[in-house]
Amino acid sequence: MTGERGLDGPGTSIWQGFTVRLRAVEPEDWEYFHRWGGDDVVARATDAVPFPESRAATRSWTEHEANRERSNDRFRWVMVDADDSPVGTINTHSCDRLAGTLSFGLAVAPERQGEGFASEAIRLVLRYFFDELGYQKVNAHVYAFNGASQALHENLGFVQEGRLRRMHYAAGRHWDTLVYGMTREEFAAEQAGKLPPMGAPDQP
Ligand SMILES: CC(C)(COP(=O)(O)OP(=O)(O)OC[C@H]1O[C@@H](n2cnc3c(N)ncnc32)[C@H](O)[C@@H]1OP(=O)(O)O)[C@@H](O)C(=O)NCCC(=O)NCCS
Repeated sequence: MTGERGLDGPGTSIWQGFTVRLRAVEPEDWEYFHRWGGDDVVARATDAVPFPESRAATRSWTEHEANRERSNDRFRWVMVDADDSPVGTINTHSCDRLAGTLSFGLAVAPERQGEGFASEAIRLVLRYFFDELGYQKVNAHVYAFNGASQALHENLGFVQEGRLRRMHYAAGRHWDTLVYGMTREEFAAEQAGKLPPMGAPDQP
């Protein structure tokens, strides 16, 4: 890391953290998505263990993600490290501009977990949605077997708001889903100073 703004030194990108940068998906990323998608532990934690996917199908999906029309603030980023190597992905969904609520999903490559990438990627996305798009609340659903994700959300200051019983089926049984949430004010209080600053525009 060079300079106080992070990986690339002084700069102005809101997507630049201290340890991770978020960028759009490129078609060439397909091999990373193929590898991550083929990890059944990651798949189970984010959704469900899938049928095997061909390289051709992942190539086509990645191409589509890279060229997707913007709609409803739904977006997918690739997390890259200080060497610009992809380490994971984060995506927003269920974005409601009227209510000001959003949700997100994410995964970090198994060999790169525990380096703080997920925490910082979530901070970067939430700062953008709260400070630049005017959203006011983030919601997250986490399977009851996913201790890593529960700890991640609690560490970031998410509040557990509920527990939906027997919502998910995996590994031969049903599981509860934990409902977490964080308001824009809670985020501002919890995360102050934990990202490279993006100053307010000059006052007229
Ligand atoms: C959950 C996940 C995204 C965390 O990514 P990560 O980059 O390793 O997370 P961070 O390094 O930012 O960890 C932040 C905190 O989360 C908690 N945490 C992360 N991994 C953990 C684990 N395996 N066990 C317990 N706590 C864990 C810790 O409290 C950690 O803080 P600490 O390092 O100060 O102790 C990652 O494990 C993953 O991709 N899992 C599979 C996919 C998934 O579960 N996605 C979320 C679905 S809701």
